[in-house]
Amino acid sequence: MKKPILYILLGLLTSFSAHASENAQLTNETRGAIKALGSELKATLQSAMKSEGPLKAIAVCNVKAPELAKKVSTEKGMEVGRTSLKTRNELNAPDPWELSVLEQFEHRKADGEPVNRIEYSEVTTHNGNRVFRYMKAIPTDDVCLMCHGKQIAEPVSAELKKLYPNDRATGFSKGDIRGAFTVIKILE
Ligand code: HEC
Repeated sequence: MKKPILYILLGLLTSFSAHASENAQLTNETRGAIKALGSELKATLQSAMKSEGPLKAIAVCNVKAPELAKKVSTEKGMEVGRTSLKTRNELNAPDPWELSVLEQFEHRKADGEPVNRIEYSEVTTHNGNRVFRYMKAIPTDDVCLMCHGKQIAEPVSAELKKLYPNDRATGFSKGDIRGAFTVIKILE
């Protein structure tokens, strides 16, 4: 083999593994941020459901969830949000990249992968920036069904309809993918 070709191959290999390790490091960092947000959200929701009931707990999802996401975003220097194939709040609607990842997640679930382990990351471009993007599936648990399940009792149902006239986030069962956390970090 001619030397220049060898050098090119070596160069490619080195840059490939450098990217792979950059991706792995970013994935680890992002998992931490998502874990913090996920457990804070769940704890806040559960305590509100217990102390004030589901009607008041709507405010936790309505107001607290975006607040907490903003807090974590600022702390971690990345943009953190939630999205879904069936959104309640249109502001959470997926962009084309998120849509294809959410569809990929449904295929992986259908192939038997446990929902709580489904995640995906990629270094790509977004709005002209080189970015790291990460998504992690959010499983539907019992506690979610009161507001996202097949039968939503009054007065919760009426309140949800009032706040979200275009609500598509109902009809879920335990174990379904309710949506996903989604993260964008701008790279140098
Ligand atoms: C008390 C009612 C209530 C419960 C219980 C609840 N949610 Fe929600 N959920 C909402 C509301 C309200 C929104 C819209 C939030 C917003 O405006 O951003 C929402 C939005 C979401 C979103 C963002 C995507 C979208 O549809 O707009 C996800 C993901 C989500 N919920 C997952 C869950 C999961 C998982 C659980 C159970 C652990 C859960 N929710 C329990 C009321 C609830």
